[in-house]
Amino acid sequence: MIIAVDGPTASGKGTIAKALAAHFGLPHLDTGLLYRAVGRQVFLDGGDPDDAGDALAGCTFPDSLLADPALRSEETGGFASRVSIHPAVREALFTRQRAFADQDGGAVLDGRDIGTVIAPDAQVKLFVVASVEARAERRWKELRGRGDDITLEHVIEMIERRDARDQGRSDAPLKPALDAVMIDTTVLDRDAAIAAAIEATERAADDSGHQD
Ligand code: DC
Repeated sequence: MIIAVDGPTASGKGTIAKALAAHFGLPHLDTGLLYRAVGRQVFLDGGDPDDAGDALAGCTFPDSLLADPALRSEETGGFASRVSIHPAVREALFTRQRAFADQDGGAVLDGRDIGTVIAPDAQVKLFVVASVEARAERRWKELRGRGDDITLEHVIEMIERRDARDQGRSDAPLKPALDAVMIDTTVLDRDAAIAAAIEATERAADDSGHQD
């Protein structure tokens, strides 16, 4: 069974995808990490993330980079969003993501275009949303917890900028697949969001006739 979990930044899709993978015993790929690695590699090379050639060169990042804690920073997230606009970058990362989805027994992938481009054949497609305010507050608390002295207003701005870029790009923009189930986590805590996702997954898997 392939489970596709898409949604904007800080919607809770990563937490949900990880929990679904543990619950259903499936491997999980955070595809945003691949784009973050490309963005980080471009930064390390002194390149320009808005330049298609520099961004494509970043796709040859070593696998060891995936464990770099710097990948989790807001700065790298911004770079990732900028390199992800280039069709050549998306194409370069496609095979790796599709191979992960195709493994025996299935997989959980989370990102922006899993249900629409990487695995349009997924038996289960979830699209996780939350208000900008709720997402910003979560991210703000997380950043403050890491010692970052950032204001909530600044986090709201960053999230709005990232949403606009992820939704507005012409190649594989962030949008729900027509058959995706929406999960709004605005007023749900972690456990309630996970419970809603498990229920939605079981229902969607039943509807698709999946046997496992
Ligand atoms: O999910 P994230 O914040 O780690 O993703 C970082 C950026 O990577 C996001 O702003 C857009 C890009 N991305 C993408 O274009 N497609 C994906 N499947 C995953 C992430």
